[in-house]
Amino acid sequence: MRRVALAVSMLLASTACTTMNTDMDAPREALVAPILTTADALDSSTYAQPQVARVTHVALDLALDFDTSRVGGTADLDILAQPGASEIVLDSNGLEIARVTDGRGNDLPFTLGTAAADGEKGAPLTIALGTARHVTIQYMAPACAEALQWLSPEQTAGGVHPYLFSQGQAILNRSWIPTQDSPGIRQTWEARVTAPKPLDVVMSGVRQGEPEDLGDGRRAFNFVMDKPVPPYLIAIAAGDIDFKAIGPRTGVWAEPSVLDRAHYEVADTEDMVVAAEALYGPYRWGRYDMIVLPPAFPYGGMENPVMTFLTPTFIAGDRSLTGLVAHELAHSWSGNLVTNAVWGDSWLNEGVTSYFENRIVEEVYGTKRAKQEVALDYMAIVNKLEEVGADAPGTALHHPEGTDSAGSAIIYNKGAAFLRTLEQSVGRQRFDAWLRQWFDNHAFQPATSAMVYEDLRTNLARDAAEAERLKLREWIYAPGLPSNIAKPDPAAFAAVDGAADAYGSARTIPAAANWAQWTSAERQRFLQKLPAELSAAELAQLDSQLALAKSDNNEELFLWLRLALANRYDPAVPRAEQFLSYVGRNKFVQPLFKTLMEQGSWGEPIARRIYAKTRGGYHSMTRGNVDKVMAKPD
Ligand code: BES
Ligand code: ZN
Repeated sequence: MRRVALAVSMLLASTACTTMNTDMDAPREALVAPILTTADALDSSTYAQPQVARVTHVALDLALDFDTSRVGGTADLDILAQPGASEIVLDSNGLEIARVTDGRGNDLPFTLGTAAADGEKGAPLTIALGTARHVTIQYMAPACAEALQWLSPEQTAGGVHPYLFSQGQAILNRSWIPTQDSPGIRQTWEARVTAPKPLDVVMSGVRQGEPEDLGDGRRAFNFVMDKPVPPYLIAIAAGDIDFKAIGPRTGVWAEPSVLDRAHYEVADTEDMVVAAEALYGPYRWGRYDMIVLPPAFPYGGMENPVMTFLTPTFIAGDRSLTGLVAHELAHSWSGNLVTNAVWGDSWLNEGVTSYFENRIVEEVYGTKRAKQEVALDYMAIVNKLEEVGADAPGTALHHPEGTDSAGSAIIYNKGAAFLRTLEQSVGRQRFDAWLRQWFDNHAFQPATSAMVYEDLRTNLARDAAEAERLKLREWIYAPGLPSNIAKPDPAAFAAVDGAADAYGSARTIPAAANWAQWTSAERQRFLQKLPAELSAAELAQLDSQLALAKSDNNEELFLWLRLALANRYDPAVPRAEQFLSYVGRNKFVQPLFKTLMEQGSWGEPIARRIYAKTRGGYHSMTRGNVDKVMAKPD
């Protein structure tokens, strides 16, 4: 454990900054974030050795080449290093490194190591620094860079121009940026990016001035992120996009033909920011803008600072799925301000955010919707524990390096249930004061499970007896559900559960008029509670009465398609095929292929036929997941 020894040997903190820099190119003094050096903060997904030498600032100068699907240019890195440090180790996944120079333009020797067997981690890029504390890397990212998805015009709403977006989390950004790609290492950054006209470029930093026309059919865009962020939060999108303001500091980008629908759907965003600030303190990033991407985007949303990335599949026309926006906004505190130091503690990002999301939803949409969403989340935890076993190790919130979590029902929903349990045990006032000080005291810094545990014992629990009663240790470190869990309000779905029971016992279908009155959470609950086995006649009746295959709400459409395919219902196949041909969101795509594959001789040929056609249109992450499903159905 060489890294552990190094870890405890030295903490590079901002105070050390000036004394440690002997080089003429001193890194920016501002905001050099501390790094954690405890064993539980060591990130096994990075090759970086930040205790020896770390990147504090990244300056990119890049050209987007849509003809070859490549990004290339230079990355200037400011480095903070131990006085005797002779090299720095960066992460790289497939980058072609042409040259590395110091601040005076002299060549620096470098080596690109061998990639780890599974390929995901990439390879270490080791640069011999000498006394240099500033390096320039000339490089090119390959067309297959995992973080980047280049869309053909046909994959966009407009159908005329190509499109590019990146997805950095968790460890994909090393495929287009040579830096230390670990959530515990914070870096400020800036970028100059050129793109062909008429494309617009946005990034997860503040755009500086107007784009500069280069006179050769290209324009240059400048961005700055002056707050230190973990590098997975550097993001870019480029396409034929327009902007529409919402409030004084909020707005949305989308392709012109999508912009009005997108704007309507996110019109509550300014109110959400106001609500979030009232709950847990100031929004510290300046503007909060969003971009609604083409449907190939592999996630629901991604909390890229000042520019949340969103799937268009959350647009239902009635703002019923805007919990997604509340979620990505909440990450401006949990995740972007206070960041999990290692991915094994991602409940600190996602669980805290899911709790915060629900508090925003309650403020903006009221308690009925908030309670229903809590009840859906609770059902997801219960189902997951049934599926994997109540004591499965992956059901603990903290998972030690090298072990896997049982998935989002744990990280997101059990994480949120933990905070909800604390809230209900000590009361809102005390809980909110605790969470607010947690954000304030760890702003722009990494955090671990051990830190939050200590903080809860010190700053939330009044004494040891209360800490014991709250079951803090069990919640964070033990599998399963602690007995003090706050249960969802049993009244949240009273009407719908009655209707689901009526269907279960007598096949009574709700009247279409009632169905239309229900909230989306209610419709989702009903669909989730339908019997697992249904005949073709029963499915046909459900669809004809409730128009499920025609739903504009993709969460509901997905539940319908999954149920129908699980019952080998032929009439659902064309709709599923159409859906899988334009949506790349992993949460929908992977389970639908999995369901088909589970249907043996009926579903497997359908899955293979559709996937042969759609695979090329999916992001590397979705593709990787579906490849696994197709290779090995469970
Ligand atoms: N940060 C996540 C997306 C993510 C997680 C990317 C892990 C890569 C690795 C984002 O905030 C998120 O949670 N998105 C959810 C939204 C939902 C829970 C409202 C999604 O994409 O479905
Ligand atoms: Zn999230």
